[in-house]
Amino acid sequence: MPNDDGPEKEPPAEEAAKLERFKQRLELEKRIAERMKLIRHKILVASGKGGVGKTTAAVNLALALVQAGDSVALLDADIHGPGVPLMLGMADVKPIGGKGGINPTAYDEKLVVMSMAFLVAGEADAVIWRGPLKMAMIDNFLADINWGERDWLVVDTPPGTGDEILSLAQRIKDADGLIMVTTPQVAAVASARKSLTFAVKTKMPVLGVIENMGPFPCPACGHKIELFGGGGGERVAADFGARFLGAVPFDPDVVPESDRGQPVMVARPESATARAWREIAVKVREAVAGSAKETQK
Ligand SMILES: Nc1ncnc2c1ncn2[C@@H]1O[C@H](COP(=O)(O)OP(=O)(O)O)[C@@H](O)[C@H]1O
Ligand SMILES: [Mg+2]
Repeated sequence: MPNDDGPEKEPPAEEAAKLERFKQRLELEKRIAERMKLIRHKILVASGKGGVGKTTAAVNLALALVQAGDSVALLDADIHGPGVPLMLGMADVKPIGGKGGINPTAYDEKLVVMSMAFLVAGEADAVIWRGPLKMAMIDNFLADINWGERDWLVVDTPPGTGDEILSLAQRIKDADGLIMVTTPQVAAVASARKSLTFAVKTKMPVLGVIENMGPFPCPACGHKIELFGGGGGERVAADFGARFLGAVPFDPDVVPESDRGQPVMVARPESATARAWREIAVKVREAVAGSAKETQK
């Protein structure tokens, strides 16, 4: 039965505040879209589990793309554990204000970087933020960083399918897609599956799956050692009909090199590990060229 009092009216102040919020959101979306329009390809590096090598993948893929001649923007969107600055030897960087926003910091001529770590005072300042604040931070990141014209934006994301990646997926509307990183072991593969289900739900295209810390040849005898097993990445890619982008061997030199700001693409560009990242970068290029976004053009 219709209500005689008619629909309940909101108090005018609340309605005005709602309208204001809506306007601000539209303005924000417009600013993000304007910045994103200047970048040809946007990829998110994700994983279900922490410690599988997302940051390693984002950094080395960015460097592989740069070495192939492209200009790259690298965004470290892991608010709780921003790992990009340490890995690139940029831990002391402070952000620089620029025209209409914050300027990213140049790693070299072709690579610019922005990280949450640049904005917090010291390494010990853990960022304890609740969901809405984290989302607001990501929004501001996307709206305010002066990336300029770039061939790629590579986004390193926090593990799992929390607020941050949801925010990123919603805001970067024209992203090419998600790259899932997993290690071969069962637990990592299971969480990669969960994340892929999330991607499918949010309609984020999945560009492919990388298996990191895969089998590696024993330095003494050459026998392949499967520290975490092998083939997990390929299996989960096949399950989701996603492209398998390649496997990166476990490499004991990667940890000390990364800790001193020398990713393998820089420290040992001729190693099997660097070669694996380069081959994956080629596959990423192919995946992007064949993605729904490109074929719609
Ligand atoms: N292929 C590899 N071989 C050996 N160690 C690796 C490899 N890839 C990453 N690591 C190391 O594993 C740790 C976790 O990697 P990281 O990229 O920080 O993971 P995530 O960003 O997913 O948490 C780091 O210490 C990193 O140096
Ligand atoms: Mg990380």
